[in-house]
Amino acid sequence: MTGDTGDTGDTGDTGEDAAWERILRARERLRMPRRHAVGAGPPLEPPDADRSQLESIYLPLLRDGGLVIAQLGQTLDGRIATRSGHSHFVTGPADIVHLHRLRALVDTVVVGAGTAIADDPQLTVREVSGRNPVRVVLDPSARVPSNRRMFHDHRTPTFWIVAPEADPGPVPGGVEVLRLEVGPTGCGFEPRDVLRLLAARGLERVLVEGGGITVSRFLDAGVLHRLHVTVAPLLLGSGRPSLTLDPVDRLDQARRPRCRQFSLGDDVLFDLDLDA
Ligand SMILES: NC(=O)c1ccc[n+]([C@@H]2O[C@H](COP(=O)([O-])OP(=O)(O)OC[C@H]3O[C@@H](n4cnc5c(N)ncnc54)[C@H](OP(=O)(O)O)[C@@H]3O)[C@@H](O)[C@H]2O)c1
Repeated sequence: MTGDTGDTGDTGDTGEDAAWERILRARERLRMPRRHAVGAGPPLEPPDADRSQLESIYLPLLRDGGLVIAQLGQTLDGRIATRSGHSHFVTGPADIVHLHRLRALVDTVVVGAGTAIADDPQLTVREVSGRNPVRVVLDPSARVPSNRRMFHDHRTPTFWIVAPEADPGPVPGGVEVLRLEVGPTGCGFEPRDVLRLLAARGLERVLVEGGGITVSRFLDAGVLHRLHVTVAPLLLGSGRPSLTLDPVDRLDQARRPRCRQFSLGDDVLFDLDLDA
């Protein structure tokens, strides 16, 4: 299940446009039943030497059998927003385009209640061509105001996941409220339960778009295949933290995933492979 087609074209140069269209075609082949996909086009992964930067970043995301990827755009000192929650924009225009490309390659995009409140995001694909993902907000106590844009614009289906006892009030049309028990850990919904709920609706390619608390919970739960962190040359010295994970005492206990780096304008994208 996915939403409508995004309505603006890719703004990159012609070579980039062509590479992006190839990536979108490869993404569409993933939607096809396997017997139709066989022989439907060139292999998903051309040899390394022939890949453009776009193909190097995005083709590894077109794996069979589902994908859970998270993203954050942060300052050099690990902040994703100011103390007041202002985050537009920590990273530059190339990373915004990157975020829209990620949205176009998944079935669904998940945000926490904090992001839905602070940013009032649309979570649609506008900077490149591609389909809009289904939108999901994790909001156990139903504290997100019902006037959010994603609840009203009818651009693509929206799920509002709340706890069984929560009262979201009158629910806008186009929004479906899903009820989920919070887990025993005191950290809200178990990420695995969220993913099961979405998979039961055919949503197996998931982008956890933020904020820091939400991405941290999915990372701590060990359910992410990939994490994209874009670092901007910006120092805030205060503000909302990027990742906050279970503490470790020694550096050799820290995660050191396999990592690739790409320039995105003035920013650097770190592509962390958590499967490796
Ligand atoms: N730079 C970036 O890439 C980026 C991306 C997104 C957002 N942002 C910024 O980040 C800020 C918000 O981030 P944040 O870390 O403060 O908050 P957040 O992650 O957006 O939202 C956290 C809240 O969402 C709910 N939630 C998240 N995961 C849950 C789970 N597994 N189970 C149940 N509930 C869950 C909880 O609500 P309850 O507290 O009600 O339980 C939790 O406190 C905003 O200022 C936004 O502008 C930046």
